[in-house]
Amino acid sequence: MDAGLEHVLAAETILSDVNGAEGRLIIRGRKVEDLAAEATHEDAAHLLWSGFFADLPPASALAQRIGAARAATPYQATDADPVTALRRGWALVPDTEGLDTAIALTAAAPVLIAAAARARMNLPPLAPDATLSSAADFLRMLHGRSATPAEIRALNAYLVTICDHGLNASTFAARVVASTRAGLASAAIAGISALKGPLHGGAPGPVLDMLDAIAEPSQAEAWIDAALTKGERLMGFGHRIYRVRDPRADALKAALAHLPSTAGRLAFAEAVEQTALQKLRARHPARSLDINVEFYTALLLEALGIPRTCFTTIFAWGRSLGWIAHAKEQIATGRLVRPQSVYVGPSPIARRA
Ligand code: CMC
Repeated sequence: MDAGLEHVLAAETILSDVNGAEGRLIIRGRKVEDLAAEATHEDAAHLLWSGFFADLPPASALAQRIGAARAATPYQATDADPVTALRRGWALVPDTEGLDTAIALTAAAPVLIAAAARARMNLPPLAPDATLSSAADFLRMLHGRSATPAEIRALNAYLVTICDHGLNASTFAARVVASTRAGLASAAIAGISALKGPLHGGAPGPVLDMLDAIAEPSQAEAWIDAALTKGERLMGFGHRIYRVRDPRADALKAALAHLPSTAGRLAFAEAVEQTALQKLRARHPARSLDINVEFYTALLLEALGIPRTCFTTIFAWGRSLGWIAHAKEQIATGRLVRPQSVYVGPSPIARRA
């Protein structure tokens, strides 16, 4: 029995390969760092969905359809937190296994997230613009001004970096639900429900809370010692698969270079990272704990002016591409996922005659 299913092989996939020993991530034959440097969210959709939808159009036509679906997404001011707003919005998408559903899900995310974020700032939602790219339109709907090319590049780098990552908890959840033939919207909602936990996609907000609490490099050692002594986990460190540096961390650090105004914050974060790695290695000499994707995610999303309450939903938006592709891959196997459990409870009490 393996409670975390660590050693269980549960799927064959052509989507991504996470090599934890070498710190390498391949997404459909491309290195993550190359994709992050070049591709857009729409490119990643085309890459991941190719072969899974018979009616998938060429990349430029897919991008146009995503824009049109974004413009058709119903939105409203809401006092719901962004994760709830996204789950509710996705619940309204027709729950089919077809391309229209896939497009509607991924297109709806930026609209719903921006509306929820603005409502928390007491600002009305802004209408989507189908003529912009997804990243440009999201930043415009959030901030009420056109995004700069550097900001658009940085957000695309993030969305592409996290678009797929093997059989992580949320992707597994999405595949389980898809295997019941519930539909792609149900699979995506299962994905975000798993993602929201702090051990998975909920870490970047707490990374910034940690940096705020440390406040300056000279206080890092004392703060980290105190946290580890209390048995707390340092957010943005450790990974189930990677035993070396998560390659996505450096892809995101490279993307931060597009936003030079962050240089001071980046230097502070690097100092905290070094102290954290030193302390983690001293406490867990037998367990290789290194930085994961969430540490520099936090810095990048902060630099784009995205509120911390939205971080998990931005992750869900990018990862929705992978959840949908994995859902289709699972459906294609034709098998319902149904593992077994070992009963270790009490035996039935014998009835009195
Ligand atoms: N800070 C301090 N100690 C840690 C950390 C950490 N971040 N991560 C693991 N450890 C310790 C853990 O307490 C355990 O110690 P002991 O053996 O004394 O009980 C030891 O290292 C082994 O940990 P584990 O529980 O076997 O590790 P895991 O594979 O279950 O954990 C993890 C993976 C990501 C849940 C964990 O490293 C963690 O909680 N990290 C902080 C949260 C975080 O950054 N999450 C984002 C993950 S990356 C993005 C994603 O995939 O969603």
